[in-house]
Amino acid sequence: MNESKHLPVQALQWTGTSLKVLDQRQLPQAVIYDEYHDTAGVVEAIKTMRVRGAPAIGIAAAFGVVLSVRRHSVKDPQQWRQSVAADIEVLSQSRPTAVNLFWALEQMKHLLAKASDQPVPEFLALAQKIHQDDLAANHTMGEMGADVLGDAQGLLTHCNTGALATGGYGTALGVIRSACQRAPRTIYAGETRPWLQGARLTVWELTQDGIPVTLIADSAAAWLMQSGAIDWVVVGADRIAANGDCANKIGTYALAVLARQHGVKFMVVAPTSTIDWTLPNGNGIAIEQRNSAELLPASYVYPDSLVTAWNPVFDVTPAALISAIVTERGVVIDPSEQGLEGLQQ
Ligand code: MRU
Repeated sequence: MNESKHLPVQALQWTGTSLKVLDQRQLPQAVIYDEYHDTAGVVEAIKTMRVRGAPAIGIAAAFGVVLSVRRHSVKDPQQWRQSVAADIEVLSQSRPTAVNLFWALEQMKHLLAKASDQPVPEFLALAQKIHQDDLAANHTMGEMGADVLGDAQGLLTHCNTGALATGGYGTALGVIRSACQRAPRTIYAGETRPWLQGARLTVWELTQDGIPVTLIADSAAAWLMQSGAIDWVVVGADRIAANGDCANKIGTYALAVLARQHGVKFMVVAPTSTIDWTLPNGNGIAIEQRNSAELLPASYVYPDSLVTAWNPVFDVTPAALISAIVTERGVVIDPSEQGLEGLQQ
């Protein structure tokens, strides 16, 4: 393991006048930042998954509001609040499942209701706070999650939950980073079809840190667990209901079922901004369906093709299959027994 203290990659960079977004569609082949000067650009970046991962989507949206405030408060000092409110509404339509998006926009709406007529520094300070708080939460969860793992050796993760998906360290991948700083582990990453967040992003991020990782086809997970190689599955979340049911990248539920079958423990790592306190359980979580072209081989994508695709990109894991939920406010062991109430402020 490489002990060097270099900073993990940054998915988002505020330049002072614009938002730079690392285009995650191009990784690992190319590290290219696109620069956005208006809200419409940020909406497009979220929709097309140049930026992705629940916390990073929330942070990007917050800076999208800053860009809106910069534009409208100068152009139209009388009516700027209406224009910003309209942009917030458009941002809220960009992706449906990650609650961090709506959580961040809700904070921006509260500020809009009370902001001064020189609002740019106020909105910028809030967006930067959302970003910095997420990064701090990542580090806290990293240590707490590593405590729970103890000296567990074999860890399997899914999707990408690292610096690319967050304020800059990671949720599940932050726990894996912190655990690997304490002692070497054996890390497995599922490729995460169809978008390959695991194969393209997680593997790349870990190797940037000098952490060895073994990639598996998603369909190899059962056989890997059966071999005894895995002690914990460690994943993130896009939305967590009050009873601990967790929505996360499609395939997470399958891993939880397999983990139960094989006596493997199952950890979800997410900041409290990912908890949707309005939902008593996971039944009400909106599951995003993406374009079938993201799944279908190109040769089947043409008008009147006989082949279509069902492409839900999240699923919900019931709390009963989860051994621990790690947040920056504390760890809930066996969430199905106690729910998450103890984390509410
Ligand atoms: O479709 P994506 O790539 O945005 O999905 C991301 C995930 O499902 C992550 O596991 C989740 O957002 C947690 S990221 C810290």
